[in-house]
Amino acid sequence: MSIYADNAATTKISKNALETMNKCAENCFGNPSSPHAHGQKAFSALYSARNVIGTLIGANVAQEVVFTSGGSESDTQAIMTGVAYGEKYGKNKIISSSFEHPAVLNALKHVKTKGFEVVLIDPDRDGIVKPEKLEQVIDENTALVSIMTANNEIGTIQPIKELCAVAHKHSALFHTDAVQAIGHIPFSAKEMNVDLMSASAHKFHGPRGVGILYVKAGIQPSKIIYGGHQENDSRPGTENLPAIAGMAAALKDSVLNMKQNMEYVSSLRKKLTQQILTLPNVLLNGDETKRVPGIMNFVFEGIEGEALLLMLDSRGISASSGSACTSGSLDPSHVLKAIGLPDGLTHGNLRLSLSEENTEEEIDEIAKAIIESVNKLRSMSVTWNEILSGKRKSEIESAK
Ligand SMILES: Cc1ncc(COP(=O)(O)O)c(C=O)c1O
Repeated sequence: MSIYADNAATTKISKNALETMNKCAENCFGNPSSPHAHGQKAFSALYSARNVIGTLIGANVAQEVVFTSGGSESDTQAIMTGVAYGEKYGKNKIISSSFEHPAVLNALKHVKTKGFEVVLIDPDRDGIVKPEKLEQVIDENTALVSIMTANNEIGTIQPIKELCAVAHKHSALFHTDAVQAIGHIPFSAKEMNVDLMSASAHKFHGPRGVGILYVKAGIQPSKIIYGGHQENDSRPGTENLPAIAGMAAALKDSVLNMKQNMEYVSSLRKKLTQQILTLPNVLLNGDETKRVPGIMNFVFEGIEGEALLLMLDSRGISASSGSACTSGSLDPSHVLKAIGLPDGLTHGNLRLSLSEENTEEEIDEIAKAIIESVNKLRSMSVTWNEILSGKRKSEIESAK
């Protein structure tokens, strides 16, 4: 048995994306910046991919789409664009949330060395950053607000339009890391009115190492790579055209099939959640409904998440204990800490992330494997036995 339930880490590339990439590599191998016929053929493929993607993400004009190497680069460039905006207008504060992806949090650490004050607001217990909280800390000195659209560990969706309106009221730019949202839930840059948005192809069945930075017309993106004048002088380097074409094909498929995929994947998630919650002392992290269709995160009291992952892996099930970038470290999840989960519970978590390729039968297999593994691990757990005997207080009830 082999079941993939780690789609938030990366997705399997689609056949269409792969074929589009191969065709493009073979037929459009010229450099889009070259004036000759081969170059112009490649230029026109690049132009077409930018138009397709611009339309699919609700850009005002296709030129607002900058192609990058993925989510981490887009996030870094977005943050540095906020820094440049602050330097231009004499503002030196950036606001973000404490449960962002490390791509944002570590870029912000760097920004502090440039004399910027960084304020991180906590999401509530339901995994949602409330606009009122942003209101409390924002002021005219704020250059940028950066809040993710969907959290990569627990899947909760943030009120981006409202948060963005608060930022704009104070003349701050607004960036959203939409890496876990694009291709999974409806998103329109125009409708949300965001200034900057990051996306990554490998999260929606596109290739790795290619992504999008949306930059609203009129905003000058800061360069973080120095070189030529590609991407309207904002991201130097010969464009990775086959990957860009593959990304456009994958996003088109994801958006065209979004309604039915959302319904199907949500139904799988609900079924799996229901089965897992038949176990005692289990918590689903984050709001039950305001979430992307495929991501769910549970805490199982009395066991270590890593042990559970290994047992699932031995049964052919690939899952995760949080972000792929932090797995391997035994530190508790910064996301679970940010939503206020008691320390004793932050180690026993499991992230499952489904896609439209999963089947109902796989969901039953995953549920069975989890229930059996948790029971087995608990039978060997001192903590669990102390909870059962009343020697130790359960933390689950107070965490709900
Ligand atoms: C929310 C979020 N932001 C950024 C990234 C980084 O994207 P990439 O792997 O394309 O650099 C990820 C990847 O897991 C993510 O989940």
